[in-house]
Parts: sequence; structure tokens; C-alpha cells
Amino acid sequence: MDIFVHALIETIVRSEAELISGELIIEGRLIDASNATLYGVIKNSIEDQFPVVYKPIAGERPLWDFPDGNLASREVAAFLVSKEVGFNCVPTTVLRDGPFGVGAVQEWIDIKDDTDVIAIAQSNARAIRNMALFDVVINNTDRKFGHILPVDDTTILGCDHGVAFHEEFKLRTVIWQFAGEELNETERHQIENLSRWLEDVGGDVLISFLTDAEITAMRERVIQLLQTGFPYPSQDWPAIPWPPV
Ligand SMILES: Nc1ncnc2c1ncn2[C@@H]1O[C@H](COP(=O)(O)OP(=O)(O)O)[C@@H](O)[C@H]1O
Ligand SMILES: [Mg+2]
Repeated sequence: MDIFVHALIETIVRSEAELISGELIIEGRLIDASNATLYGVIKNSIEDQFPVVYKPIAGERPLWDFPDGNLASREVAAFLVSKEVGFNCVPTTVLRDGPFGVGAVQEWIDIKDDTDVIAIAQSNARAIRNMALFDVVINNTDRKFGHILPVDDTTILGCDHGVAFHEEFKLRTVIWQFAGEELNETERHQIENLSRWLEDVGGDVLISFLTDAEITAMRERVIQLLQTGFPYPSQDWPAIPWPPV
């Protein structure tokens, strides 16, 4: 394996423990971000440092349509759902303390240069369909092109899952090309596994990050997905985030 490939794999397999244990050092602010979204490094030792995004709860702007809890916790809930049932489309994300208090800390992903994210997002690529399914599960209201991170030809990760998990159906995304399609066999198994996980331990895990009503609503979305497949855009709600980039 050459060094580049090795480095890439390293980038996406940082464990939650690695994100929690090191010192969090702030290096700057992401200027196009809407909340206090900071860029920094986790330093476990001189040799072991890696970049992260840090979103302190104290820097969150209140949102009228997401009055409960905080965005940072939803970012962690999205990571846990992604990891538990094999979507694997969210960089490792934890809730931890930092220089501006407790917040979400997520591994920074270097995206592949010279990729056309708009073309990828509108394609039928497996990783995009995977992301579309994940977004239905978490009821994502903010899947814009800038929240799609192509890592290599087959791996696509997503970021900014703070405004998700609402009890009402509010899916807002730039990926609608699968609307009306049934789940394939693999997807059906995955969603059935998700349903089992939610009944077994998932509900107890997620209650640290979401409300009861949000977890119940996710269970209902899962049942609906199995019955009717990928949903169509809502008629009473803008179906595409603005701006879409
Ligand atoms: N983990 C990450 N890896 C790589 N880029 C990221 C990551 N998280 C955010 N970004 C980049 O930073 C931008 C702003 O971050 P985002 O999470 O969207 O913040 P905000 O909640 O303030 O909108 C994103 O659009 C994306 O380009
Ligand atoms: Mg954003």
C-alpha cells in the first residue's frame, strides 16, 4: 500500500477514543460556516495530531424550528446511527469539552481535489444512494452540496448533521433522484437491522442525544421506509436547502 492510500485510510478511521483523549487546539474559524464552527487539531502526542472541526454548544444560534436540545448532540446522534448500521457516511464525531466548552468534535476529511460534487450528488452512485437513505433515516434538513465530502472514487462522507432528527418529516436535500424507488434487498436488511438496533439498545444510546419524540419519529420513519421506499419531496415544505451549495 502506498503512503497516500495509507494516509487516506488513516483519515477516516480515527476512533471515538482518539477524538476524546487528546488535547483540542483551535487553529481558526471556518468562514463560510453559520455557527461558531472552528477548525483545530487533536493532539494525542507530538507525532499523533490530526485535524478536526469543533462546534461548541455555546456558539450555536437558536433555531425556531429546532427548539429542543442542541445541534452538537444531533451531530453525534447522526454519527452513531451511521456507524451502527453500516452507512459509514459520517466522519467520527464525539461530544467533548474544549476551549469554548462542550461541543461536537468531528474528524476533518480531506476531500478529493478536482471532483464535481454537483455531478456526483446527482448521480446514481452507490455512495450517494447510501447517503440519501441515511438522510431519510435521520430526517436531514440540510443536505446541500457543500455537506457532501467525496473522499475517493467510492467513498463519500457527509457533514453538518445538526439540523436533523425532527419529529415532523422535513427532509431537505439536493439528492432527490431516488424518490419513489423501493429499497433493494441490501437496503432492506440494513433498515431492518436499524429497526432491531433501535428496539434493543439504540433507543437507550440515543436518548443521551435526542428527545423521546425524536427517537419515536425515527422508528416511524424506519417502518415507513420499509413499506414505501424512498419518499417524495413534501408539498408543504421547501424540499431543497437554501442555498443549495
Ligand atoms: N468533518 C469535515 N471534514 C471536511 N470538511 C468539513 C467537515 N465539516 C465541515 N466541513 C466543511 O466546512 C463547511 C462548514 O461546516 P458545517 O459543518 O457545514 O458548519 P455549519 O454548521 O456552521 O454550517 C462545510 O460546508 C464543509 O465544507
Ligand atoms: Mg453547513
